[in-house]
Amino acid sequence: QDYFTQKHGELYAEQQSLMDLAAQFGTPTYVYSRAGLEQHWKAFDDAFSAYPHLVCYAVKANSNLAVLNVLARLGSGFDIVSAGELARVIAAGGQAEKTVFSGVGKTVEEIDYALKTGIRCFNVESISELQRISDVAVNLGKTAPISIRVNPDVDAQTHPYISTGLKENKFGIAIDDALAVYQQAVSLPNLQVIGVDCHIGSQLTSVSPFVDALERVLALIDALAEQDIHIKHLDIGGGLGICYRDEKPPTPAEYAKAMQALLKDRDLEIMLEPGRAIAGNAGVLLTKVEYIKVTEAKNFAIVDAAMNDLLRPALYQSWMAIEAVKPRIDEAEQNFDIVGPVCETGDFLGKDRSLAIQSGDLLAIRSAGAYGFTMSSNYNSRPRAAEIMVDGTNMHVARQRESVESLYASEQILQD
Ligand code: LLP
Repeated sequence: QDYFTQKHGELYAEQQSLMDLAAQFGTPTYVYSRAGLEQHWKAFDDAFSAYPHLVCYAVKANSNLAVLNVLARLGSGFDIVSAGELARVIAAGGQAEKTVFSGVGKTVEEIDYALKTGIRCFNVESISELQRISDVAVNLGKTAPISIRVNPDVDAQTHPYISTGLKENKFGIAIDDALAVYQQAVSLPNLQVIGVDCHIGSQLTSVSPFVDALERVLALIDALAEQDIHIKHLDIGGGLGICYRDEKPPTPAEYAKAMQALLKDRDLEIMLEPGRAIAGNAGVLLTKVEYIKVTEAKNFAIVDAAMNDLLRPALYQSWMAIEAVKPRIDEAEQNFDIVGPVCETGDFLGKDRSLAIQSGDLLAIRSAGAYGFTMSSNYNSRPRAAEIMVDGTNMHVARQRESVESLYASEQILQD
């Protein structure tokens, strides 16, 4: 079910008119659906109900406190990649005990903070990190629970920038070296080896790379057992794709079914780290057409959102659906490039879109709930967008629009 639908000739978020939201809060504005977030999270939770499991939402997809809070209330765990994300989880009412810490560059300060808050597990990506976590744990007199993130060398068949499970990627430890690294881990002080972790990429639209990776990881778990290293949980990462245009990614239930065929009756707790599949289609970016500019080569619709608000089209050439909030049904459509005001040719949100629009009209960029606001910046000194959470007929300001003054509040001019 989609919570962004046309009613009475205009687009709604749940029971809220997006025209009304734009009138009240201005544009560009991210709008999230609470029901959408909940539905997508529950789909994963239900799909794995046959196993002890924990859905650890990948905070990087959308780290707004309101989003994290909605998921925390459902009992969600979290996958974080920085101290900043851990602080957000805690500020939003999430539990450190349900939080796993991924990422290749954990600093001493971050490890220290994570150990003090008592996170569930570190997903370790190198031998030097293993050593560092052990050192910090010894200093604190604590034990650090760890998994090794293994790189199974499978092709996720996705965009190269978001593919992470190949030998040449910086992530994880090559599966062929994993046994030796686990042996090292058990020999280091103040580490407790509890899991195996694997994440092969993002926006995957078929189950086969997940299945290939799982086969390799299960073989590793068996080899570890022979060495008397007993694994309690298996973290299968995130990466399940969503429909932006006409992709037909597996549903969480189909994904779970394919995984369970291999897991059978193994005695493992399953952890998952979905981000995009929970937040992506639970959000849109609302933007207003400032100008229509007709040139010899193209028609441009210049909108008030830009690559600093939504980077995915510029960075990955991603196609994201763009629709008029109130379609002009009796006017002819024309082809437009939807571009922002930023001074870069790469500043586009969509190309060659057929729309009937005029200046002043509102557009909704769909599937923008994940990797939208979290990748936004202040380039061109543009304050970041407002974020609104819709909940039925209610709405909640999840983040106020930034003020211009706040952009340079911590800067200083020279004193002499
Ligand atoms: N776990 C780890 C260790 C990850 O690196 C990621 C995403 C996830 C989980 C969540 O993956 P998801 O379920 O969202 O696919 N900015 C890019 C996506 C980058 C993904 C990075 N890692 C985009 O906009 O497409």
